[in-house]
Amino acid sequence: MKLGVFLPNGQNGYILSTASPQYVPTFDHMLAITQAAEEIGLDFILSMIKFRGFGGATKFWDACLDSINLSAGLAAATKRIELYSTVPVLGIHPAVAARMIATVNDISKGRTGVNIVTGWNKPEYGQMGLWPSPDYHDRRYEFAADYLGILRALWRDGRVTHNSDFFQLDDCECFPTTGREIPIVSAGQSPKGVAFTARHADYNFVTAGPEKLRRIVPPLHAEAAKVGRKVGTLALVTIVAAPTDAEAEEIWKDIVAHADQAAVMNVMRSAGMDTNTDGTSKHFLEGLTAPVEDGNMAFMGFPLIWGSYETVARKILQHEREFGVSGMLLTFVDFVPGVREFGAHVLPMLRDAEAKIPVAAE
Ligand SMILES: Cc1cc2nc3c(=O)[nH]c(=O)nc-3n(C[C@H](O)[C@H](O)[C@H](O)COP(=O)(O)O)c2cc1C
Repeated sequence: MKLGVFLPNGQNGYILSTASPQYVPTFDHMLAITQAAEEIGLDFILSMIKFRGFGGATKFWDACLDSINLSAGLAAATKRIELYSTVPVLGIHPAVAARMIATVNDISKGRTGVNIVTGWNKPEYGQMGLWPSPDYHDRRYEFAADYLGILRALWRDGRVTHNSDFFQLDDCECFPTTGREIPIVSAGQSPKGVAFTARHADYNFVTAGPEKLRRIVPPLHAEAAKVGRKVGTLALVTIVAAPTDAEAEEIWKDIVAHADQAAVMNVMRSAGMDTNTDGTSKHFLEGLTAPVEDGNMAFMGFPLIWGSYETVARKILQHEREFGVSGMLLTFVDFVPGVREFGAHVLPMLRDAEAKIPVAAE
């Protein structure tokens, strides 16, 4: 199973609560997390980008380090781990993004990947005058597919001529080429987002608790199979592991009890503007009252895997064996100790179980 860490390069990571560590992201912190992940043998890190946070008492995501620049710095200081940068299609022209990613690819000696995000929070892009049209919510995956086509052409050939509703490029150059296909992940959960990933990406992120995973993973694979492709599914989760179940429970209960309601409401307001329904916006709405296992908004709607080290290892294994996910993107309450603790106590049990009964190839 492919395992990665979702770097908390937005303020306070992925928890909207005054009971979790409060921090403004720094390169040193992100590097410490990435090095810890590399040391324990995880496969990749992914960083995000938000141009406008959600405020509240925790100033949630108000500060955010740029994802591509961050990857460049991390690439120079690591040797093995893969580094996924988030490319915001509304924020960077594709010919500029292609060159930035080709640069990280060079620095990392071929360890870079891209998380392609359409931008779905109107205030975030509206504040810069970058919300392109009133129908962008509905057309965003069309835009992203067009954008990705340009990225891939430039990475492969170093040159493209392109005329579409969205972009005009006239014999546009971008060298060096990457000399390898850049892996693409996407996180759209709406029907249009899923269709985009099935057609264009290598991995799809899902944010769903156990019951929903059982229901949604097979159709995701079927959607890709329809167009003759194979797309892996990576489940996004927050890990709360402790020596005992009771200790882990105490940690998450305290976090939920101190949820930053103002920041949660600001997330909801922004998601409420989304006219492309049935995706993340709906999940957030459900997350206001959802159990933590399904994704409560105190944890940004990310499902929690919590318990003793044994419990956590067992639940992760269940994701692989029963729900059919090919990997997981992990977040933690306090990342550096969280990753180390995971490496010391959970990962050995997981790898041991995987070695004893190998998972059948998909
Ligand atoms: C793992 C993961 C990472 C994401 N990273 C970002 C990001 O960095 N910036 C962003 O604006 N949206 C990000 N998103 C949001 C998605 O890209 C997508 O826009 C969102 O899920 C809404 O699309 P949907 O309505 O199709 O679900 C992320 C989502 C997930 C699950």
